[in-house]
Amino acid sequence: MSKILLLHGPNLNLLGQRETGIYGDLTLDAINSAAQQQVRKAGIDFETKQSNAESELINIIQQSKSDNVSLIVINPAAYTHTSVAIRDALLAVDIPFIEVHLSNPHRREPFRHHSYFSDVAKAVVAGFGADSYRYALDAAINIIQKIND
Ligand code: DQA
Repeated sequence: MSKILLLHGPNLNLLGQRETGIYGDLTLDAINSAAQQQVRKAGIDFETKQSNAESELINIIQQSKSDNVSLIVINPAAYTHTSVAIRDALLAVDIPFIEVHLSNPHRREPFRHHSYFSDVAKAVVAGFGADSYRYALDAAINIIQKIND
């Protein structure tokens, strides 16, 4: 069975309390349960993880190879703008991934305009709030269904 890993980076555990004018009112649990429903309804296995630590995110990505993850949907959060190491981990496992952001980083401070992920991502979805996850997962489901056809 195909499997999607939804991976969240630092401070996303605080969704619902954190800068709600930018990131919205939904908690990470609410986003994850909607995501789980959406993916499982399509007959695809689903797993989600969050970490505030760069090394932990790298370990999770490395592990996803032996866990037979078919596609990763990742919001690297602040590591988007800093982490060559997470980028390298994604390239090392060679699993296609979609980069997701709640906000549109290009409308924000200049230091958020560069991503270490976008040029190697399958696609980028940003700026739709929690719906960014829904759209990205929809695309992920379509990609997997096409591969399995
Ligand atoms: C974010 C955007 C990043 O710039 C920021 O550091 C985050 C969240 C987003 O989802 O909009 O933590 O990835």
